[in-house]
Amino acid sequence: MDYKQYVTVVENFPKEGIRFKDITTLMENGPVYKQAIEEMADFAADKNIDVVVGPEARGFVVGCPIAVQMGIGFVPVRKAGKLPRAVLEVDYGLEYGKDSLNIHKGSIKPGQRVLITDDLLATGGTIEATIKMVEELGGVVAGIAFMIELSYLNGKDRLKQYEVFSLMTY
Ligand code: PRP
Repeated sequence: MDYKQYVTVVENFPKEGIRFKDITTLMENGPVYKQAIEEMADFAADKNIDVVVGPEARGFVVGCPIAVQMGIGFVPVRKAGKLPRAVLEVDYGLEYGKDSLNIHKGSIKPGQRVLITDDLLATGGTIEATIKMVEELGGVVAGIAFMIELSYLNGKDRLKQYEVFSLMTY
């Protein structure tokens, strides 16, 4: 399937010079969204995954349906101040800004095999911070799946020791 035809490229959003990949037009199409999720879940099918982890907000858009498709749980990674219980916090830089990410302590059990998901790999800062949190909680990153990889930003260089899947590459 040529998924790119369902993604809208928006020029100069959210800043001058950024070509924003808008996946909402893909999500509006039920059968295409479903197939994309199934393909991402297929990547992880033979990896004995215990739990899916994804960063807000668009990481939820791919991670939650993948978890449901696989019949396993989902653990959210959120921006600072959003999770109600005790958290682990990690600072990160992203394509256009800087922030910190949180995960609930105890949300991943030591030794659990984790599939990390997000809509997009840009610089890799978000996913690197997510990996750090998963590993600090004792989880094993068994795979990382993106809907989109922006190969020209070389984010994949930061993920060399992991098995990475991208549905689309720009
Ligand atoms: C975007 C995107 C990824 C991240 C990729 O999220 O959904 O999570 O940036 O960039 P990076 O590889 O350079 O870290 P954003 O932080 O804009 O949050 P949102 O999904 O809540 O809009």
